[in-house]
Amino acid sequence: MDRFDLSEPLYALETHRADMGEVTIADLFAKDPERFADFHVELDDVLFDFSKHRLDRTTLALLVDLAHAAKVEERRAALFAGEIVNPTEARPALHMALRNMSGAPMLAGGVDVMPEVLAERRKMLAFAEDVRNGVIRSTTGEAFTDIVNIGIGGSDLGPAMAAQALSPFVSPHLRLHFVANVDGADLADRLKGLALERTLFIICSKTFTTLETMTNAAAARGAVVEKLGEAAIAAQFCAVSTAPNEVAAFGIQDDRRFLFWDWVGGRTSIWSSIGLSLAIGIGAAQFEDFLRGGETIDRHFLAAPLAGNVPVLMALIEIWYRNFWDYAAQAVIPYDQRLARFPAYLQQLEMESNGKSVDLSGARIESATGPIIFGEPGTNAQHAFLQLFHQGTEIVPVDFLVAAEPTAADPHQHNLLVANCLAQSEALMRGRTREDVEARLRGQGAPEEKIAALAPHKAFAGNRPSSTFLYKQLTPRVLGQLIALYEHKVFVQSVIWNIDPFDQWGVELGKELALRLAPLVADDRAALDGLDSSTVGLIAHMRKLKEG
Ligand code: F6P
Repeated sequence: MDRFDLSEPLYALETHRADMGEVTIADLFAKDPERFADFHVELDDVLFDFSKHRLDRTTLALLVDLAHAAKVEERRAALFAGEIVNPTEARPALHMALRNMSGAPMLAGGVDVMPEVLAERRKMLAFAEDVRNGVIRSTTGEAFTDIVNIGIGGSDLGPAMAAQALSPFVSPHLRLHFVANVDGADLADRLKGLALERTLFIICSKTFTTLETMTNAAAARGAVVEKLGEAAIAAQFCAVSTAPNEVAAFGIQDDRRFLFWDWVGGRTSIWSSIGLSLAIGIGAAQFEDFLRGGETIDRHFLAAPLAGNVPVLMALIEIWYRNFWDYAAQAVIPYDQRLARFPAYLQQLEMESNGKSVDLSGARIESATGPIIFGEPGTNAQHAFLQLFHQGTEIVPVDFLVAAEPTAADPHQHNLLVANCLAQSEALMRGRTREDVEARLRGQGAPEEKIAALAPHKAFAGNRPSSTFLYKQLTPRVLGQLIALYEHKVFVQSVIWNIDPFDQWGVELGKELALRLAPLVADDRAALDGLDSSTVGLIAHMRKLKEG
């Protein structure tokens, strides 16, 4: 694909970056005490504050010029029109159709997908309600009490993250469990103490060939057959996939097969029947609210001018740091314990999408692309890695997420949580001056010699950037909005970097090599020809350890 010329906006940004070199975020606030007013956007349920960044109005205007030059609007239109935006797999990426609540036509390859989407959504939600209400029962005639989702990557991270995020909305009669790792400990630990006769297994796999999922599904099947007999499989299992024949071959009947389509990427499949475990937990009405949340962001993303478009701003700010300041990482710190898995979810969404080094034409990309995404909930993060953010040599921009009110928690504790979140973004921005440190130490009566020794350790420059997402409560609708904001952010970045964000060829090699090595690991006598000396040495030593 031809690359449009970005040299002018890039040059303008580089020049501006040099001008901004010495300007601190604190200076920007001092110069413009009303800065917050211009550097935040209030969406439906989420306020996005981007005032604590190393940018001013000129920066924003230049970044928006870059987005225009990269034809973000045209590519956004192509995305929603169901054009092939994933050329290496010759597919559209139409996950927005899954949260289209009006049913208005959406085309993939010229065909309206909405009739199929609505039919499958109805089927999945009706099944979810029946399981939830005990209408659909187990092989022993009992209501299900435990739901075990078996899947990995996009077939696990979305529902697992959302089930925790929305746990106050999950029926008290149900427990949701997630098994992903091929490490048998994962399945064994989840099944410990579960009554298999009251457990529904959902096998989630877009391809229905993924090693981890198929291995865990076979093991779970074996456990059910051993305890309840072969005939129990029909009642205790259901599946979500794009591969109906493979699902049927596993022994799952038609009314328990929930389909989606190859135009849904794994990492954006939470909106499809991959969300079945979540839908069983929170019920159809709340699941639809979750979808509606995502849909409101689609409308905003489509309609808002780029300068006030939250996913576009999120993308541009990250590009500003990645490409003009050389910041290699981006942290996500939810001050919301139930969003504990949100950073992991975003790791797949962002790093599997934009972890690329060639552009759409196959040419090497000159600039840096996707940053390293990581995070943990606050306040725990404060007692782990935030020290490096405050005083380390790396600068790591942060996304803070925080609710005004707890969904189901102590309000006093929640106030402390919010205060800590605000304190961290302020501390990152301000730092602590040497004068302040010295004055405090003097105030405590410290001798001058001690003050001189301690001051350099206790003072730090601040000027560390962050965004804050503030919402009333972590409801299904708000969660839908947050996820969709990040999805579109990742897409906008891919447009500017001119990469295919919907493929993931890099993970294939590891899968192939694992398949080649599996028999060599299993059979102690298998020859280790053709392997590098490290792999040979490790396998040989492992064989010795197993013998001893
Ligand atoms: O990690 C690679 C990947 O292909 C992801 O993109 C995907 O979400 C995951 O594996 C699981 O794939 P499947 O849903 O086909 O089992």
